Amino acid sequence: MRTYLVTGGAGFIGSNYIHYMFRKYDNEIRIINVDALTYAGNLENLKDLEGRENYTFIKADITDKEAIEKIFAENDIDRVVHFAAESHVDRSIKNPEVFVHTNVIGTACMLNAAKAAWENPDGSFKEGKKFLHVSTDEVYGSLPDDGKSYFYETTPYQPHSPYSASKAGSDLLVKAYMDTYKFPANITNTSNNYGPYQFPEKLIPLLINNALAGKELPVYGDGMNIRDWLYVDDHAKGIDMVQEQGKLFETYNIGGHNEKRNIEIVNLVIDTLQEMLPDDDPRKKNVSKDLIKYVTDRKGHDRRYAIAPDKIKAEVGWEPETKFADGIKKTIRWYLDNQDWLKNVTSGDYQKYYDSMYEGR
Ligand code: NAD
Ligand code: TYD
Repeated sequence: MRTYLVTGGAGFIGSNYIHYMFRKYDNEIRIINVDALTYAGNLENLKDLEGRENYTFIKADITDKEAIEKIFAENDIDRVVHFAAESHVDRSIKNPEVFVHTNVIGTACMLNAAKAAWENPDGSFKEGKKFLHVSTDEVYGSLPDDGKSYFYETTPYQPHSPYSASKAGSDLLVKAYMDTYKFPANITNTSNNYGPYQFPEKLIPLLINNALAGKELPVYGDGMNIRDWLYVDDHAKGIDMVQEQGKLFETYNIGGHNEKRNIEIVNLVIDTLQEMLPDDDPRKKNVSKDLIKYVTDRKGHDRRYAIAPDKIKAEVGWEPETKFADGIKKTIRWYLDNQDWLKNVTSGDYQKYYDSMYEGR
């Protein structure tokens, strides 16, 4: 039975990936989920897996060398899928150090532990071992708003935010391990994900949460920035396909060919909520375009991201499956059906975060 070590599996994409993998492989695989449970990690995301014999959760920090080495020593790991990271651009602007620590040092620690566990005495690696590093298209910087330029795997790195710079650093470390040691790895660079279990500091769940509560919907700058949205299950499928069918040592960009301006997203979320909420739901009257508030722009705000997923289509056979109109409905349905989850993650520290981020903007 193949054993996976998933880092950051209690976060948004990691938890969706684990669900995807058990739906696909059921009892053919074993997953060990290693997560430090920061503000972004939530075991509620994986509640339905409790009691599964082929699933184990270990609370550990990826920068804790000894803890990570112990996990490799005690388990014969075949696959690493490395999601764990600090992931929010706005937080990185306020507090860059933790991004360097987790994203760069943490990735180095994961690479070292996997290398030590998988390396043969002659410097080659044990058969079939693979490490997949999950990264972002933000490492490529910002595209002009021309609707025709794209990020390719060959696009030079030009990160702007402390978040993307720290992810670029982690990508380069993985590349260095592949170049120097022939360490068996792949890198995926992916566009903005959306779907269930996303923490409501990110645009789409923040809009849903605020609109339901009748709170302002903060739009940075002119609202015309473009992001390329990918449904999280399509991403999970892409990661699995790259790891199983991709060529080792290669980078693959995973994107939805789904560019939207932020203001389009805001309007769509409002329209969809109005359509989905029953007339007798008291929250329906809260949901209105009057909530839209243009606020001070994010510092260094990248204008446009757009991935050309040509390589992954040609070499791996992956294509996005979920149409945006369907994905956004599924996402909003999930948040409406999981109000307790939303309440739990937005209680306590979330309010402090929100006030410090949006006050006076
Ligand atoms: P997230 O913030 O929702 O989850 C991150 C997870 O990592 C959390 O469970 C957190 O507890 C855990 N974590 C953080 N620091 C840790 C540490 N030091 N040790 C162990 N665990 C730690 O992030 P996400 O949106 O699920 O993103 C997952 C990965 O995908 C990240 O590497 C991110 O850079 C990348 N990515 C995200 C997007 C997106 O749109 N969300 C797009 C492209 C790439
Ligand atoms: P976000 O979800 O933070 O993802 P990223 O910065 O990694 O792309 O933001 C998506 C876009 O939405 C980005 O252009 C910033 C913008 N945005 C707002 O306009 N208002 C908000 O409150 C947030 C969180 C983001």
